[in-house]
Formats: sequence, structure tokens, C-alpha cells
Amino acid sequence: MTNTKVVLANRPTGAVEDSNFDLVTEEMAPIKQGEVLIKIEVISLDPAIRGWMNEGTTYIKGIEIGAVMRSFSAGEIIDSQNDAYEVGDYVTGLLGSQTYAISSGEGLKKLDMSSGKLSHHLGVLGMPGMTAYFGLLRRGQPKSGEVIYVSGAAGVVGSTVGQIAKIKGCIVIGSAGTDAKCAYLVNECGFDHAINYKTEDINAKLKEYAPKGVHIFYDNVGGETLDIALMNLAQGARVVICGAISQYNDMANIKGPKNYMKIVTARGVLTGIIVFDFVQEWPMAVEEIAGWIAEDKINVKEHMTEGLENYATTLKMLYSGQNFGKLILIP
Ligand SMILES: NC(=O)c1ccc[n+]([C@@H]2O[C@H](COP(=O)([O-])OP(=O)(O)OC[C@H]3O[C@@H](n4cnc5c(N)ncnc54)[C@H](OP(=O)(O)O)[C@@H]3O)[C@@H](O)[C@H]2O)c1
Repeated sequence: MTNTKVVLANRPTGAVEDSNFDLVTEEMAPIKQGEVLIKIEVISLDPAIRGWMNEGTTYIKGIEIGAVMRSFSAGEIIDSQNDAYEVGDYVTGLLGSQTYAISSGEGLKKLDMSSGKLSHHLGVLGMPGMTAYFGLLRRGQPKSGEVIYVSGAAGVVGSTVGQIAKIKGCIVIGSAGTDAKCAYLVNECGFDHAINYKTEDINAKLKEYAPKGVHIFYDNVGGETLDIALMNLAQGARVVICGAISQYNDMANIKGPKNYMKIVTARGVLTGIIVFDFVQEWPMAVEEIAGWIAEDKINVKEHMTEGLENYATTLKMLYSGQNFGKLILIP
């Protein structure tokens, strides 16, 4: 058998480029005792990949040069030498951007296919959905009637945050980069307001939509957006730093908030979320989100592309806003 995989050829200095990757096809050794062979059907492309391409360790070690590009992927077990898994089981894990993966079972999660489509287990029922759930509920601690502003709102994390906040009775404002994304947030996700940050003044719009301030700011974008949100905090506000996609291409020169003293005057809390800290509780959250999807309380949007040869083109979409929904690559 042969496996085709995307490997890291070299590290980007700024934005991701096609030349950072190589496509490699190689013979696969048969699986050994304790291992399973997985045919990968869907690969998750996530904003964090840009950070994983850097040298060194943050919350996770950077990808080695020549190693397969790290990704959450999901697929079917087609051969098993591990008693815990049978041929035909569907699984997910950090299986990489490739056509087949061999796993010892460590970090592998068997999927309950009755709770959602396979691709949903990489998005709203996977790591990004868990980020939204725990980031909002544990860090943001929403209360009915409060106002939440979520940046990067049309992505899987942002749209899930906003929709869970609606379920919890909040007034939800989101910002995104196109009118179509803003219309989606209001018309299909039930957001109260959406701001096109490329054509509208976020500060003026927040003052209009949240005249008494924002109780929760859930930040996926960072930089100037964070600064503007800090200027619009209500008393006792919680600022949840989930991501900073506007900064990922130049983390050495990250633009920090100028207005952080607003945390003091608002008696606020500035907090961070790393989704892996809640991994023991993911099954509970998957069940609850799957229930909300079944009740039509959460809209799921996915953006699929095909072919490992299109890995770089697809990944770049995240940093230019060309994806509309959870970005998934079918190998
Ligand atoms: N802390 C954790 O444990 C954790 C886990 C998962 C994800 N995250 C973070 O959550 C955030 C959202 O992830 P996602 O998977 O839902 O991605 P996503 O929102 O589907 O995709 C990224 C989006 O970011 C927006 N964007 C790109 N460059 C931007 C810029 N310079 N300024 C403003 N917006 C920009 C684009 O939308 P527009 O068209 O709206 O610009 C793009 O579609 C990311 O920051 C990610 O790193 C954190």
C-alpha cells in the first residue's frame, strides 16, 4: 500500500506559502500488533496550524521539518491489530494530513456516528466546537440578558460561541469580513447584530448596539479588534482570549492591546482558553451540542475542498478569510 502525505518542507517567515510544503508518496509497512490502519476521509484545517509551523514549543511542540502536517483528521479503520478497535469503526485524532494513518490507539477517539456527520466531528462536534463551548461557558460565564461581542464570528468557533450565547439568553454581536458572512450570522445563526469589520467602524457600531457596554468579549482576532473591544467593556466584563488570527503571521512582533487599563476600570477579567485543558469533559459537551443541532438551535456550516495537492491553497484561505464555515479538506 502507498500513503500520500503533506509534509513541512520549510518554515514560513510570514504568511504561509506553497513552497512550505511537499507532497510525498511512500510505501506503507504492514501494521504491527497493537496498531490500527485508518483510511482518512476528512482533514481539519485550523488557524493554529500557522503557529505549529514555527520552531519551538508553545502549548504544543512545533512540527518538525519533514514531518507530516499535523491536523485533526477522521476516517474509518480498515485493518486492526488492536482489540479496542474493529474494522469499520470511525475514529478521529491528530492523524495528520495524509491518506492513511497508522495509530497505536493513543489519543484516538472512537466516534458515535449517530451524533453527527463525520466532518462534524472535526468542527462543531470536534476541537473547535469544544473551544467554543468551554471558552464561552467556563471562561465567559454568560448570564441571560448580557451582551456578548464575538470577533471572527462567522468561523466555526465564533458562530458556535454566538449560537450557544443565544441559547443562554444573551444579546449577541458578531464581526466578520464580508456582508455575506454578516447576513449569515443574523439570518441563519440568530445573532442580534453583525458588523462587517472591513467596511464598518467597529467602535461606532458597538456603541450603537451595546450602549451600556459589552459583558463578554470573545476574541478570535486580536490586534486592533481587541483594543476596540476593551474600550467598550461593561462593568464586570469578561474578556476571553481564544485566538488572535490577525497576528499569527508575525508572532514575533505581536501587537498587544494599548487599552488594557480598561480591564481595571471595568473591574473586568482577562482570561485565556486552551481547549485541550477540558479534554476529559469533551464527551459531555459533544452530547449537548449534538442535541442543540438536532433541535435546530445550532446551524452548522462547512467549507469543503478536495485533494492533498490543494493543501496549501486551502490552508491559506483561513488567513485571508476565503473560507466560509469549518474548513475541511477531503484527501
Ligand atoms: N484557544 C484554543 O484552544 C483554540 C482552539 C481552536 C481555535 N482557536 C482560535 O479560534 C479562532 C477561530 O478559529 P476557527 O477554526 O473558527 O477559524 P475560522 O474563523 O473558520 O477561520 C479563520 C477566519 O478568521 C478571519 N480572519 C483571518 N484573518 C483575519 C484578520 N487579519 N483579521 C480579522 N479576521 C481575520 C477570517 O474571516 P473573516 O472573513 O471574518 O475575516 C477567516 O475566515 C482562531 O483564532 C483560532 O486560532 C483557539
